[in-house]
Amino acid sequence: MTVKRCTTADTEEIYRIEEAAFSDPLKKETMAKDLERESYCCYALFDPDAKAFISYEKVFDEGQVISVATKPECRRKGFAEKLFNEIVAFAKKDGISFFTLEVRSDNEAAIKLYTKLGFKRVGVRKNYYRNPLCDAILMDLHIGDEK
Ligand SMILES: CC(C)(COP(=O)(O)OP(=O)(O)OC[C@H]1O[C@@H](n2cnc3c(N)ncnc32)[C@H](O)[C@@H]1OP(=O)(O)O)[C@@H](O)C(=O)NCCC(=O)NCCS
Repeated sequence: MTVKRCTTADTEEIYRIEEAAFSDPLKKETMAKDLERESYCCYALFDPDAKAFISYEKVFDEGQVISVATKPECRRKGFAEKLFNEIVAFAKKDGISFFTLEVRSDNEAAIKLYTKLGFKRVGVRKNYYRNPLCDAILMDLHIGDEK
């Protein structure tokens, strides 16, 4: 099992996970372009093929989580948890001191995952998501040394 930062060469594999995980996936071309950008950080767990990925945008010392997804047939095996816990070290080295994210209030699996990873609920945006209408829960996690 290895965790590595993805490049455009990984687009197909990562896109397959994105497409299977989300009802409104990114366009493949958008993902390929994002993977070229220095501030777009995408890491995947390979075992031996890509099982899960996480992407975030680096804005100064903040990592704004964009996506976290695990292949449907590989869920509940600890892949997302392991992947996130491994990338914290990479992110710290890269100058990230905290992660922020928004999650649909009806996404119980993701909220439980983030809570287990140590994220704290810090706010809510009412009716932020459409189809169906749903609140966004704002969560963050400090990984820097200062508290
Ligand atoms: C959310 C998601 C990434 C979790 O991935 P995963 O690899 O299955 O998660 P893990 O196996 O590492 O689970 C770690 C912890 O998360 C929580 N969790 C994960 N899936 C859960 C579920 N279906 N129900 C309840 N808790 C869940 C549990 O606390 C779990 O720990 P436990 O197994 O000891 O109880 C996966 O369900 C997914 O890809 N969902 C679709 C995409 C998505 O909604 N992404 C998040 C929004 S960007």
